[in-house]
Amino acid sequence: MGKIKAAITGIHGYVPEYILTNKELEIIVDTTDEWIIERTGIKERRILKGEGLGTSFMAVKAAQGLLEKTNTDPKDINLVIMATTTPDMLFPATANLVSHGIGATNAFGFDLQAACSGFIYALTTGAQYIESGFAKKVLVLGGDKMSSILDYQDRTTCVIFGDGVGAVLLEPNEEGLGLQDAQLCSDGAGQEFLYMKAGGSRYPPTAETVNRREHFVTQHGAAVFKNAVQNMSEVAQRVMLRNNLTHEDIAYLVPHQANRRIIESTAGRLGLPLDKVLINIHRYGNTTSGTIPLCMWDHRHLFKKGDNLLLVAFGGGFTWGAIYLKWAIDHTN
Ligand code: UT7
Repeated sequence: MGKIKAAITGIHGYVPEYILTNKELEIIVDTTDEWIIERTGIKERRILKGEGLGTSFMAVKAAQGLLEKTNTDPKDINLVIMATTTPDMLFPATANLVSHGIGATNAFGFDLQAACSGFIYALTTGAQYIESGFAKKVLVLGGDKMSSILDYQDRTTCVIFGDGVGAVLLEPNEEGLGLQDAQLCSDGAGQEFLYMKAGGSRYPPTAETVNRREHFVTQHGAAVFKNAVQNMSEVAQRVMLRNNLTHEDIAYLVPHQANRRIIESTAGRLGLPLDKVLINIHRYGNTTSGTIPLCMWDHRHLFKKGDNLLLVAFGGGFTWGAIYLKWAIDHTN
């Protein structure tokens, strides 16, 4: 019997119905459809509307669809990991709300905050529980309601982000399929380039923090851009090298969807042709922890059992990382 690996045995996603187009943003801030498409590749993004609906609303929808298509009884789920930067509340954890929402009454759960690298971190974490035998069915979700922390007076950020959640089921695999390798990195020196200043323990919410618009995302785009390209290509290269993977061996690169130019530069540095690079940023913008599972979900029909996928992300923190996995599903529905 081979070593147990953690394989993705189902994938699903949920994006809200409301489509915020570049044209509508032209009315809200001083921007143009042309600028947004040329500088980011984004054509539209989804926005969750509705009083009292948070990230867990989308996560429950994604998880329910996943359970249904994999014929999984929610009571059999052992662990729920929710990667998010926009939890419903500071506490309790959104994972607990999701478990409750889907009836996963035998699961323990926790949130994982690693900004745009959240899903990569969560998938790697979930895999450890499967590989060790501690859990048999792990639900890993990644997603955000970015619209809840965006300043719709700041054209440099509000055009980029959107809302959505992706979900995967992890189960043991003894055929050698599933997660093969991962490299996760972080560097707190990046905190000055991408953050939300207030609302935490350092600057609790006050009327002043609200007036100073400190409960919104602040990003120094150019610095983040440069670090994203450099670190995503380096970490992906490292994982390829130590697994003896050449360009031919990779079926698809699934990069974090922050900016089409970042994706193309990263692929260029890795020497990967664009037909092996999965992109859906034009549809959803940057959904932070949601981009990678939503991108896999959108392209799932392309994947064949045994395909080598390389997932790579970069985000606030800074955080970044890459995962090499072998697709384990025969016909992905
Ligand atoms: O997912 C987490 C990690 N995040 C990222 O990876 C994002 C990384 N950064 C980026 O994707 C890009 O830096 C942005 C898309 C955020 C900005 O694009 P850029 O090409 O780096 O623009 P810039 O910040 O250098 O700004 C160029 C110009 C500025 O005008 P001036 O100062 O040259 O007159 C901006 O004010 O573009 C202006 N600008 C805009 N113009 C129209 C910035 N945002 C907009 C906008 N519409 N929405």
